[in-house]
Amino acid sequence: MADSTHVVLTDSDNAKTSSLPVLRGSLGTPALDIGKLYKDTGYFTYDPGFVSTASCRSAITYIDGDEGVLLYRGYPIEQLAEKSSFLEVAYLLMNGELPSKAQFASFEHEVTHHTMMHEAFRTFLYGFRHDAHPMAMLTGMLGSLASFYHNELDLEDPEQRRLAAIRLIAKVPTIAAACYRYSIGWPIRYPRNNLEYTTRFLHMMKEVPSEPLNLPPIASKAMDLLFILHADHEQNASTSTVRLVGSTGANPYVSVAAGVAALWGPAHGGANEAVLKMLAEIGDVKNVQSAVDRAKNKESGFRLMGFGHRVYKNFDPRARIIREMTHKVLGELGVDDPLLEVAMRLEEAALKDDYFVQRKLYPNVDFYSGIIYKALGIPTEMFTVMFAIARTAGWVAHWLEQQNDPENKIGRPRQIYTGATPRDYVAFDARG
Ligand code: ACO
Repeated sequence: MADSTHVVLTDSDNAKTSSLPVLRGSLGTPALDIGKLYKDTGYFTYDPGFVSTASCRSAITYIDGDEGVLLYRGYPIEQLAEKSSFLEVAYLLMNGELPSKAQFASFEHEVTHHTMMHEAFRTFLYGFRHDAHPMAMLTGMLGSLASFYHNELDLEDPEQRRLAAIRLIAKVPTIAAACYRYSIGWPIRYPRNNLEYTTRFLHMMKEVPSEPLNLPPIASKAMDLLFILHADHEQNASTSTVRLVGSTGANPYVSVAAGVAALWGPAHGGANEAVLKMLAEIGDVKNVQSAVDRAKNKESGFRLMGFGHRVYKNFDPRARIIREMTHKVLGELGVDDPLLEVAMRLEEAALKDDYFVQRKLYPNVDFYSGIIYKALGIPTEMFTVMFAIARTAGWVAHWLEQQNDPENKIGRPRQIYTGATPRDYVAFDARG
């Protein structure tokens, strides 16, 4: 199997056969090219949730779920988390290489000077109910961004594609902060060009007009780290959504808006919000064991939020890094959060429970990120928005890669039809 070039598939009647080429990347599991399977045999493949299906070739991110490895463009996440910054990571994801000093200065300048929103955007924003969820607002606002950059947009022009990616990285934090401020009745805060990316975002979100914001340095550092860790994760649900929409030749801003919508679900990015809600519901360390027991009981319909991952069947390497930062943030800010104690006990109880051990269910990135966000004074409804800001870097990198991919085709899965077989229409009056 290690060196096979083809896998021959024959049906049980020995009537049909197809020789499927084995495709190999630079790392990881080989894949069978099943493009000819239907023509050769008359069969489709069936794989709900794409558990065994690769949808594209990609050079951006590599994950080894069994070993707990995550690489962005070949660089281990641990090294990037320690030494890089989110904006540098965004450059790396988009361009494939770490920037030189001059390249980074130019990238930072461009991103910084594309952070403003058209003033008409306020009209969109003010149309939302005051209590609208910020993820609903972000989805809508990004969709409307397409209307500002559509008529002249030529997707055949690589420079226009690059600029769309820059605009998205630059404007998503401005829009996210505006959504938040609208929801609490604060005036929108314009981006300040003298601040770097993450600090600028925190200022846009938190600074009141009447006094300067004293932001503890650990706040920007922790947020930047979380942004790095969330920046990309290969073909996850939201990135695949961006690619699916992008495969039709749609406008990049709506492609990313679709990614935001996919991210919102609690099985994906919405999990960080769900973790905090769950920890608050558990409330006290004395309730931890009963929560674990409830999660093991399928009939309860309850799952431990922040546990398990489709790909990591070992510890999520991002969770390990965040766990360390969580303690640092709480220590430096002097936060004594009882929910952290609940989180620690929950992690401890689940990690030694046979149910979780056998199924290889470990804490994922969302388990700790919510606690950090909470310590930084970010409201729970904004947690997934934070994730969206970071993942925009990954979404645009994948969108750019896809637009250049000679194998790109409109994404159009098949199905196994289980509905009614042909039957005659019954006249309305004859139906009783
Ligand atoms: N709590 C309890 N049981 C669980 C959990 C959990 N969090 N996650 C999986 N299981 C169980 C399932 O019931 C199933 O048990 P079974 O084999 O007895 O039927 C087994 O573990 C496998 O679970 P699947 O749902 O088949 O695993 P899948 O890979 O499809 O799902 C997912 C992965 C969606 C992340 C799942 O683990 C989950 O719902 N976790 C909680 C939500 C969460 O934290 N999501 C964030 C993901 S990370 C991210 O998006 C950034």
